[in-house]
Amino acid sequence: MSASPEMRQAEDREQIRSITRRWRQEGQKIALVPTMGNLHDGHLALVEAARLEADRVVTSIYVNPAQFGAGEDFESYPRTLDADRQALEQAGCDLLFLPAHHTMYPRGLENSVRLLASPDLAASLEGNSRPGHFDGVVTVVARLFNLVDPDIAVFGEKDYQQLLVISRLVHDLGYGIRIVPVPTVREAGGLAMSSRNNYLEPEQRRAAGELNAVLLEAAEQIKHEALDPTLVERAAAASLENLGFRVEYVAIRRAEDLGMPGAADRQVRVLAAAWCGETRLIDNIEVNCVGI
Ligand code: PAJ
Repeated sequence: MSASPEMRQAEDREQIRSITRRWRQEGQKIALVPTMGNLHDGHLALVEAARLEADRVVTSIYVNPAQFGAGEDFESYPRTLDADRQALEQAGCDLLFLPAHHTMYPRGLENSVRLLASPDLAASLEGNSRPGHFDGVVTVVARLFNLVDPDIAVFGEKDYQQLLVISRLVHDLGYGIRIVPVPTVREAGGLAMSSRNNYLEPEQRRAAGELNAVLLEAAEQIKHEALDPTLVERAAAASLENLGFRVEYVAIRRAEDLGMPGAADRQVRVLAAAWCGETRLIDNIEVNCVGI
């Protein structure tokens, strides 16, 4: 049962299965942390949470072509494997899963079986801005679940809609996996950590912190002033445009299922996507309402 001194690495189905099978036979609980690499403190908080919840931590790094739309940054997405490996070793990850494309998509992207995310959750907000994105996410995450067969899987609230879409995947397909959510890790100025922040110039990085400030202000307005959510959304979008962002959406939604919040809803989320120069940022925050 002693922790292995070095992080192991698996690249194909046989390797990952033989290691995780041994652990399972020894009665060890396995946590999976799916990532696309270029790891920062947000990802490492997931590894930390996984360590607290399980005996063994598997982190996957795979830049999943199926979740990128045409014209998005699949080709240029930052790939920093050496630094990632070091960070994971220090964070106490037991196994790095680095699947090749044919391990994830045995018949290639076009001909392999794919899944559709629940439209009622996945068609709005990010799904509206990025058609097919969540179908690509559930397809790759289901494949990771099948290959690793974890007891627990850890996801960040930074991608709040993704977290709900994956919880639905687990429920609807009957996976016996517990999803553990981790709060968003931020830079000192409030900017949610993201691999895409690397695209920001230093001056933009400072300005990008305003996205979070505007969402916090909107949250206060809903919480204490009980303003109409639609008016708050509009005012927040206008503030962001004035600050130089190009807004895709600001949305106040029920936390549970992203439906429109009603007077009785207490758990609400403020979500936004906005461009800072050439960089698309998303953020969201929790609001515990006194009443809308
Ligand atoms: P990626 O963007 O690499 O994120 C991997 C995990 O880290 C996700 O669960 C995400 O929500 C979490 N995360 C990212 N930034 C965070 C932050 N600042 N604070 C807390 N958690 C943060 O999300 C994906 O990859 C992919 O869609 C994936 C699930 C791996 C499927 O391909």
